[in-house]
Amino acid sequence: MHGRFTGWLGSSALALGATLAISGVVTAAEPAKAVTFTKDVAPIFQQKCEACHRADGMAPMSLVTYEDARPWAKSIASRVGARQMPPWHIDKTIGIQKFKNDRSLNDAQIDTILQWVAAGSPKGDPKDMPAPKVWADDTKGWQMASKFGQPELVVKSPEVAQDAWWRPTTPTGLTEPRWVRAIEIRPVGKNARKITHHALARLQQPEDMPAELFTNDPNVAGDGLFMEWAVGKNGDEMRPDSGRLMLPGSKIAWDIHYHAVGEEITDTVELGIWFYPKGQEPKHREVLALFNTFSGGNRSLDIPPNQVTTTESFVVLRENARIENFQAHLHLRGKGMSMEAIHADGRREMLSQISDFNFNWHNIYIYADAVAPLLKTGTILHLVTWYDNTSANKANPDPDQWVGWGDRTVDEMGHAWLNITYYNDEEFNAELAKRAAAAKVNTDASK
Ligand code: HEC
Repeated sequence: MHGRFTGWLGSSALALGATLAISGVVTAAEPAKAVTFTKDVAPIFQQKCEACHRADGMAPMSLVTYEDARPWAKSIASRVGARQMPPWHIDKTIGIQKFKNDRSLNDAQIDTILQWVAAGSPKGDPKDMPAPKVWADDTKGWQMASKFGQPELVVKSPEVAQDAWWRPTTPTGLTEPRWVRAIEIRPVGKNARKITHHALARLQQPEDMPAELFTNDPNVAGDGLFMEWAVGKNGDEMRPDSGRLMLPGSKIAWDIHYHAVGEEITDTVELGIWFYPKGQEPKHREVLALFNTFSGGNRSLDIPPNQVTTTESFVVLRENARIENFQAHLHLRGKGMSMEAIHADGRREMLSQISDFNFNWHNIYIYADAVAPLLKTGTILHLVTWYDNTSANKANPDPDQWVGWGDRTVDEMGHAWLNITYYNDEEFNAELAKRAAAAKVNTDASK
């Protein structure tokens, strides 16, 4: 992991040296502006880092107090400067930039942190320290309970001793179709939050894919991703009058990644599900599906040694669609992925791109309401992936190895997990009108 960033560290030392020289001048002229931990940095860490970096958090160290953070200053400058931390790896220069779950730092915040490190990481006046942020203990209860009461259905993962990746399935026990309105995943057990790096719950019900949308499209597969547990975001509430349909006989397939913490741990993950009342069917159905970023089936994925390889796929949308999110799934050679819309009139619109993929972080990027792409029937989704199987890719375990499709992390994959709401023409036009009206209000306001 550290190897990945050594190149950057080298140049950062120079950059920091330069910043130091400049800020030295500034500090001499205007001492009041010196950046300190208590005044400037702690508020940023509370807002953007403590969700993971606190005692018992999932990150390797706490960044709550000055004493916690000070020894990590250099590493912080390197990770923050490279936009590797907080983990939010969408390309900031390409495509849509407004997300519901954005946990990244803005340029001013990055600047403040880099200046603080460059100035020798001063503590500052203890009186400037903000009140400690209080975190709900998500191992104790359901956070959504305050809004919806206790979940109607709870699915528990089997107990495991820690392991790298682990993928059991658990039956949901549902005996009739139900519409889901909210979901929450939480770790259970003494050490669960510390060791659970990443937990995905995938709904297995192959008949879930609406045939009229995807029949015969080899680039799209079912087994929708139902919910991802990511630190700082435990629950997912459907949009108004929208839901996900769960069918009898469905199973939850778990994809759980535990950190090695050097002690025997048997903990579980729980999925809580809140349904719409029986008989109440939401108007819109959200469908989660896997969109391959290569064409021709799994066996066609062909990544020769010592070179960069690109693959692409095209999927025609058979109904009007609103794309709710972007999420890339690649393994160790995976370097980047882009998603572009090709409209009926030939206009091409880049929606999103991840240019420096990191296998540790399969982030879901959820578009903000005002900008989630609204795409007409017939629009083509163009997905491109690139794999770096050279030694320049620090995550690459063996650049001399040919790589094909497979489950192991040393094999490859390539797909986007997309959650899409489909609309008939009337509903779609209403959505477009709503969007236009909102845009008009914004322009009027700025006049
Ligand atoms: C979503 C959880 C999460 C958030 C938010 C987060 N981190 Fe991290 N951080 C981690 C995890 C997990 C690791 C270890 C794995 C890795 O490096 O990807 C890590 C690693 C790091 C490291 C490397 C430590 C080392 O071994 O040298 C630094 C530095 C760091 N984080 C700083 C920050 C800062 C500063 C922020 C806020 C501006 C932040 N992180 C926000 C989870 C998080």
